[in-house]
Amino acid sequence: MKVAGTQRSQILASRIAYSLDTALLSIRYSRFPDSEHYLQTGPLDDQTVIVGSVTDSDSFVQLLLLIDACSDSENTLVLPYMGYARQDKQFKEGEPVSARAVAMALGRGVERVLSVQIHDSGVLVHFGIPAENLTPASEVARFLSTSGYSDPLILAPDEGAHAFAAAIAHEADWDHDFLVKTRISGEEVRMEPKNLPVSSRAVVIVDDIISTGGTLVTATRMLHAQGATEVHAICVHGIFTGGTYTALLNAGITDISASDTIESVYSRYSIAQSVAQAIEDADY
Ligand code: R5P
Repeated sequence: MKVAGTQRSQILASRIAYSLDTALLSIRYSRFPDSEHYLQTGPLDDQTVIVGSVTDSDSFVQLLLLIDACSDSENTLVLPYMGYARQDKQFKEGEPVSARAVAMALGRGVERVLSVQIHDSGVLVHFGIPAENLTPASEVARFLSTSGYSDPLILAPDEGAHAFAAAIAHEADWDHDFLVKTRISGEEVRMEPKNLPVSSRAVVIVDDIISTGGTLVTATRMLHAQGATEVHAICVHGIFTGGTYTALLNAGITDISASDTIESVYSRYSIAQSVAQAIEDADY
């Protein structure tokens, strides 16, 4: 078995390879003069764990090419972040179900899929092959425990994220709760005021994704108004579109942490061990 990472997922791929005590597939990435992607792998093994987050169109194409280059081996696709997963239904007439389109394309050429904290696990059916989703609650709880928080309140910014917040809180017997969010536009959300025991206490908001930061900005302002002294933000997938960091700091966020599903300066904990464990448990 070898582990192959796309260009943007090389660090995570190397950590997964290390946890599995297996080799990394060498891959050379470049582009043709007209900017089309090109890649060339070293010798394949009989099994390949392909690790590639879809963060944009380039990473999607690169992942498709890597899967094709590995077609002589039995492949497990680890999809740390699946872009387009949030368009998981046709909200308006004429729209694509983007999650289905992406899943159908990626599902060809691999035998199984392992996603991480996917927006809605319902989209896994579109891969048309065995697919499971990993929830890294233990990693987040471990990261929080080693970060020195004392009796934090683990807060989900909406009801959809509450199960994740509860799973994290359960690991260390912390309190947890959720806010009620209504999305007004791509960047703006409204939150119902809620009386929470936040006065003089560290609050940790946990979410699957931080994208524009709109959700966190609104939640943080509300929590500070209620007397919270520290508001920390932790997500699995740190997208951070333009201006997000500044907007979060200006709203009074104490610090921001994300996993390495999308590798960036915010990546402060890794999901590699859970992925390796899931692969070992499945005995691929
Ligand atoms: C929404 O359902 C997700 O769980 C996140 O809350 C959302 O994607 C965060 O986006 P933003 O940072 O743009 O508010």
